Amino acid sequence: MYSYIIKGGKKLHGETFVSGSKNASLPILAASIISGKTTKLYNVPDIEDVRITLQILRELGCKIKKEKNKVTINSRYMTKTVIPENLMRKLRSSVIIAGAIIARFKNVQFSYPGGCDIGSRPINLHLENFKKIGIKIDENTRYIECKYDKIETKNIVLDFPSVGATENLILASILGNQEITISNAAMEPEIVDLACFLNRMGAKVYGAGTNIIKIKGVTTLKNVSYKIMPDRIEAGTLLIAGAITGGMIKINGVIPEHISPVLDKLEETGCEIKLSKNAVYLSVNKKLKAVNIKTMPYPGFPTDLQPLFSTLLTICEGTSIISENIFENRFKFIQEIQRMGAKATIEGKTLIIKGVKKLHSADLESTDLRGGASMVLAGLCAKGTTKVSNLKYLIRGYENLDIKLRELGADIIRKEGE
Ligand code: EPZ
Repeated sequence: MYSYIIKGGKKLHGETFVSGSKNASLPILAASIISGKTTKLYNVPDIEDVRITLQILRELGCKIKKEKNKVTINSRYMTKTVIPENLMRKLRSSVIIAGAIIARFKNVQFSYPGGCDIGSRPINLHLENFKKIGIKIDENTRYIECKYDKIETKNIVLDFPSVGATENLILASILGNQEITISNAAMEPEIVDLACFLNRMGAKVYGAGTNIIKIKGVTTLKNVSYKIMPDRIEAGTLLIAGAITGGMIKINGVIPEHISPVLDKLEETGCEIKLSKNAVYLSVNKKLKAVNIKTMPYPGFPTDLQPLFSTLLTICEGTSIISENIFENRFKFIQEIQRMGAKATIEGKTLIIKGVKKLHSADLESTDLRGGASMVLAGLCAKGTTKVSNLKYLIRGYENLDIKLRELGADIIRKEGE
């Protein structure tokens, strides 16, 4: 494994591009097995979570060709319907592959995905709603077994607009002659990208991006080529890097409305933001001020950028109140930032941050994907040399983060072996 060594205290200047979206790529890769045809995907981020997903598709019998950011999946010869337990454990979001396998083979077996550092990550909403549309579920063995004779036309209402449950239900309902309506559906842009991909393949998914999604089953799907949307969380990460160093940067390839709650909050701290069709400019020309954050399902403030924004707030003048309403354990990163001089207290789902003038460097251990990225940003801000180790989490979701930050003028290198 390797670490990042960061010589901080420099204002970032320059421009870079965002990669394709991790959280759009994973469900779209899963969806590619439903057709039994060939899918060509472009702008796929070259990250660990994609490589693990491709490993699962290969184990299921798909033929995969990967050339950096272009992936071809031929699912014609796929026969297996058991998601390998060891890979399920490595990538809990692979539970959405179950919906795709069910759609095509009418049965699937997979193990409980298990929790992670940010929460217990249950899948009750997936399973309860599978049952409502006619899928029989046996949870009494080591594997969860799902099978059905016929998906029934149903209107279902999600107790919570879960991204994964919305995606899994869409995938499970693609084939057949039923009509499924999902109310209180998740509205994230990644759901819209998944629906665009599915409809390009010949599916009938209506209303993605709203909280009511309708899926009309079809009988056949076709070969498809598709370009993955840009990663809005990576875009937000890079913009916050510009803000925390007091710099002036341009991030290309962004869809600004995907991150409008984040841009609004950056402006509220005092950053200057300018937009063009597919780029965002950020500059800092004054002392940034504290703001309050409440994470919510889209189009609210995204939970995935809460750790990054909270890290920015540790050097913003005043007291910030951050409430994390999506995951139950997403403040773990702050313990490491406190070792750099940050002043923060946790009260249940609320993080209270009292801004300090500056952070000092330290050796940090990343705890999870977005927490690790937060430590990189803290290192960019603090004068001196900061080491962020245990990057196995970070490489899951960011493609060449160090290269992009160097393009913005950061002094960051990868050091093998620690
Ligand atoms: C997706 O996770 C994303 N991952 C997460 O990004 C993101 O934080 C999350 O959506 C929320 O936007 C991918 O898309 C691969 P949820 P998912 O189901 O689908 C509870 C990152 O850093 N819940 O919307 O797992 C759950 O415990 C990752 O890129 C149930 O209670 O999120 C959580 O509290 C982290 N029962 C809340 O809902 C269920 O059956 C949101 O979960 C499912 C979820």
